[in-house]
Amino acid sequence: MKPSGMPIEAKSGAKVTAKGERGQDLLGLRNLVVPAGVTTPPPVFIVEGRGAEVRASDGRAYIDFAAGIGVLGVGHCHPKVVAAIKCQAEAYLHTSFPILMYEPYLTLSQRLIAVTPGSFPKKTFLVNSGAEAIENAAKLARAWTRRPAVIAFEGAFHGRTLFTLSLTGKLHPYKGGFGPFVPDVYRVPFPYPYRPPVGVRAEDIVAHSLDAIERLFLTTVSADQVAALVVEPVLGEGGFVVPPSGFLAALRDLCRARGIVLIVDEIQTGFGRTGRMFACEHEGVEPDLIVLGKSLAAGMPLAAVVGRADMMDAASAGGLGGTYGGNPVACAAALAVLDVYEEEALVRRAQRLAGALRPRLEEMMSRYPAIGEVRGLGPMTAIELVKDRRTRIPAPEVTSRVLESCWRRGLIILKAGLYDNVIRVHVPFVITDDQLKKGLDILDAALAEGAPAR
Ligand SMILES: Cc1ncc(COP(=O)(O)O)c(C=O)c1O
Repeated sequence: MKPSGMPIEAKSGAKVTAKGERGQDLLGLRNLVVPAGVTTPPPVFIVEGRGAEVRASDGRAYIDFAAGIGVLGVGHCHPKVVAAIKCQAEAYLHTSFPILMYEPYLTLSQRLIAVTPGSFPKKTFLVNSGAEAIENAAKLARAWTRRPAVIAFEGAFHGRTLFTLSLTGKLHPYKGGFGPFVPDVYRVPFPYPYRPPVGVRAEDIVAHSLDAIERLFLTTVSADQVAALVVEPVLGEGGFVVPPSGFLAALRDLCRARGIVLIVDEIQTGFGRTGRMFACEHEGVEPDLIVLGKSLAAGMPLAAVVGRADMMDAASAGGLGGTYGGNPVACAAALAVLDVYEEEALVRRAQRLAGALRPRLEEMMSRYPAIGEVRGLGPMTAIELVKDRRTRIPAPEVTSRVLESCWRRGLIILKAGLYDNVIRVHVPFVITDDQLKKGLDILDAALAEGAPAR
């Protein structure tokens, strides 16, 4: 096997098609057997992935700036992760931890306790997906506080189950037609410096959001009925919106003063994405419950709630569980991921990547007026595309054109944002300098094609 980060050789001159092993038309088959609600904009089928590159069924190599939606911090098929998965799979695949226990569940729980912020006694609960982890964090907060309500933010994304959709603050495409949603969920504005509410000065947006919470307590739900406030330190699906510093710390104070559990959703921001192991470390904030997923297990389905031991113990015996949560193979992968982060100093590498990404995107902004803003925290970097810099009217059609051009040119990259007009960069941290440059060159060429200067 090639080491991580090694380029894959594309079959030169291969025809761009999506044919399966037996020559069947994969796009046609996809449309036949996959529900319409599952969209996969790049028309690409992977056959092999290594580091920051994938080889597709059309024989071409693609640079991967999506990393499975920010999952592959260690890259595709990191040899250590693959070896750990193989080794575990040969010993035992599944028992269900509540039925028959195994050590990797404990070792991983202990390591997550050690690596997450919070200098108090903590416990870990392992589940299969980010949404399931958020669900369980909210259940624990309700059980601990004996209060019903939960506060979430506009533009937030917390998952696709009905409760996490209720928390999610973007209607289309996630929520349309799926209601009614769970009651006792209240929504407040998230500070979005590029798009402050009408009449609010950019420097006042944090105060505006905090004030909205205080008004909520006066007008809609009493603070003593609120179990939890759930927040992403940087909006992920919401468009890599970075709130001004001090916001998370202010939420920490507000929750402490009101007896509300602070749940920080680090599913997308965690594991180095913002240049620190966890984004809340930028402000020295210790959440009561921190929710992890995505990069935790390099693609194996695993997520976790880590938090204050007394809160984690709030459910009665048998109140937490699940058939697959903390599956041994996923735990083995996650333990290998944590080793790789340490051995390859991936958080430091993530910081270095941010140093290369940001200036290049800013340089592109100087040439393409459609780029209204370059923003991000660490390597979690994005560009927001607009029709005109003065009015800041979002340009989702331009965004689609640029993305389509990227895929055609050999770069897998994603959009995000409340207005579908943000192109986000989620590179595997093992990406080589050459691959990073190649990917950014493709983005540059795609902007020249899809968003030329008029
Ligand atoms: C911040 C955040 N929370 C929760 C989720 C849901 O995670 P999952 O898709 O694993 O259920 C996501 C997924 O994109 C996310 O970005």
